[in-house]
Amino acid sequence: MLATNKDLQLAARKGKYAVGAFNTSNVEITQAIIEAHEEMNAPVIIATSTSAIEYCGIDILAGIVRQLAMKAKIPVSLHLDHGTDYELIVNCVRNGWTSIMIDGSHAPLEENIAITREIVKICHAVGISVEAELGRLGGIEDNISVDERDARLTDPNEAERFVTETQCDTLAIAIGTSHGAYKFKGESKLAFDRLEQIREIVDIPLVLHGASSVIPEIIEKANKFGAQLGAAKGVPAEDIKKAISLGITKVNIDTDLRLAFTAGVREILVEKPEVFDPRKIVGAGRKAIKQVVKNKIELLGSANKA
Ligand code: G3H
Ligand code: 13P
Ligand code: ZN
Repeated sequence: MLATNKDLQLAARKGKYAVGAFNTSNVEITQAIIEAHEEMNAPVIIATSTSAIEYCGIDILAGIVRQLAMKAKIPVSLHLDHGTDYELIVNCVRNGWTSIMIDGSHAPLEENIAITREIVKICHAVGISVEAELGRLGGIEDNISVDERDARLTDPNEAERFVTETQCDTLAIAIGTSHGAYKFKGESKLAFDRLEQIREIVDIPLVLHGASSVIPEIIEKANKFGAQLGAAKGVPAEDIKKAISLGITKVNIDTDLRLAFTAGVREILVEKPEVFDPRKIVGAGRKAIKQVVKNKIELLGSANKA
């Protein structure tokens, strides 16, 4: 069944767990994500980026996710990830998305407030929930200055004002994570103090982007079968757990699925060179993603919360 991020995250806050938001761009990734959640009776957010929508086609991607969601017994949200384009957002609304992220985080505060308010007005009129973002994603390694650290991390007072003025339903915050497979040069370093301060002052559900762990065994496997993923590093599972205990209720994961897919496909191509059926090749990637998603459900505590 279909659901909104707002409803899923409010339930997660009450139950002290987080809902995973997993990115998709095709049928196999979507099947892997939804099947894993069905088998573990967990709610899920299916995230689609602008480039994923361009890759698959907006109506096709909507069809894939909505058909699988409607067949499933668990609640599924179809969510636009990092929406920046007004036309695309309106098209997602028309094509049955249940949740929209408006990402105005690169704009100055006043502009971010103005764009977000406008999207909230449109989406709330038709029952769609809105995630907004404040702060800049990016590492906060020891060598960055206090000023730079402050400029990147979400400011709790600004967040309070932002939420009041925009009426967004959920808020993505910057506490030191970044997108992709190369998040930290040294050890992972998240600003948990900042998360606590924001949590105290902001009362809508919070979102953590860039939350892939870049699982060492998967990197090893991919490299064993020919990948070159040298210094890849993500957010350790313990840090994700801590972030959830401090109030994060949506955890965004894309990179870990990409890596699992790559390792699975590389393995079958190397181990079974006689195989040339695309279903077997892509199917191996789908199977690898499904296992990673199941492990994430365990980590986030969302099993049996559907
Ligand atoms: O937020 C970033 C997601 O990983 C989506 O990435 O724009 O390459 O689809 P993408
Ligand atoms: P990762 O790159 O860490 O998987 O983050 C994904 C994300 O934040 C999508 O919005
Ligand atoms: Zn993101």
